[in-house]
Amino acid sequence: MDVTLKVWRQKNSQTPGKMVEYKLSDISPDMSFLEMFDVLNEQLAHKGDEPVAFDHDCREGICGMCSMYINGRPHGPQTGTTTCQLHMRNFNDGDTIVVEPWRALAFPVIKDLVVDRDALDRIVQAGGYVSVNTGSAPDANEMLIPREIAEEAMDAAQCIACGACVAACKNASAMLFTAAKVSHLAVLPQGKAEHKLRAERMVAQMDAEGFGACSFTGACAVECPKSISLDHIARLNREYLGAKLTSNNV
Ligand code: FES
Repeated sequence: MDVTLKVWRQKNSQTPGKMVEYKLSDISPDMSFLEMFDVLNEQLAHKGDEPVAFDHDCREGICGMCSMYINGRPHGPQTGTTTCQLHMRNFNDGDTIVVEPWRALAFPVIKDLVVDRDALDRIVQAGGYVSVNTGSAPDANEMLIPREIAEEAMDAAQCIACGACVAACKNASAMLFTAAKVSHLAVLPQGKAEHKLRAERMVAQMDAEGFGACSFTGACAVECPKSISLDHIARLNREYLGAKLTSNNV
């Protein structure tokens, strides 16, 4: 198949960027979207041009690195799929595909399609952990956790911190990300001891990073490649309100 790519090229955060058009021929429909980019970059390198910078690592839908808008949608047209697991068969021969980096104040462009998502790491550093001293590792199943609670925690823990929720949100809010990180610890007994402090600190860091407020539109959950539920935002709001009403930690 033949495709035309319109790709955002930007040398660095100080230089203005622009869309640049590339034509690719004989692309296999079975290639992943990133493999198609590998072909483009090989061709650019052969011509002596600068390859397109884009983030990737596992290429298995696990690491959350492959962040890009494809035709205006985070991770492209297929629901519940990361860019690295999107295949060219989801497009038609002759299509024009527009590829841009995440657009959010808290995600400055580093180069081309690569943005700085350290803000998400700093939210986790603010409280997304269990710090109580629990001694050595307990025997398996010593602390019994009802199956529905364990599954709820694991559903939240599926978040791969790709930033698609922020990119999809008209307010560039990181609520779905923060909610998933708060939620997956808050429902487990190990995470209960610090749940108030965690919610307060992570929300405070989220605000400090310049993410917008959540207006509960739900675009984040629609575009999330791991289908993280909006229910976690409702839990974060309850956790945060409860913490604010009963403590002065922050
Ligand atoms: S490259 Fe790891 S999730 Fe896409």
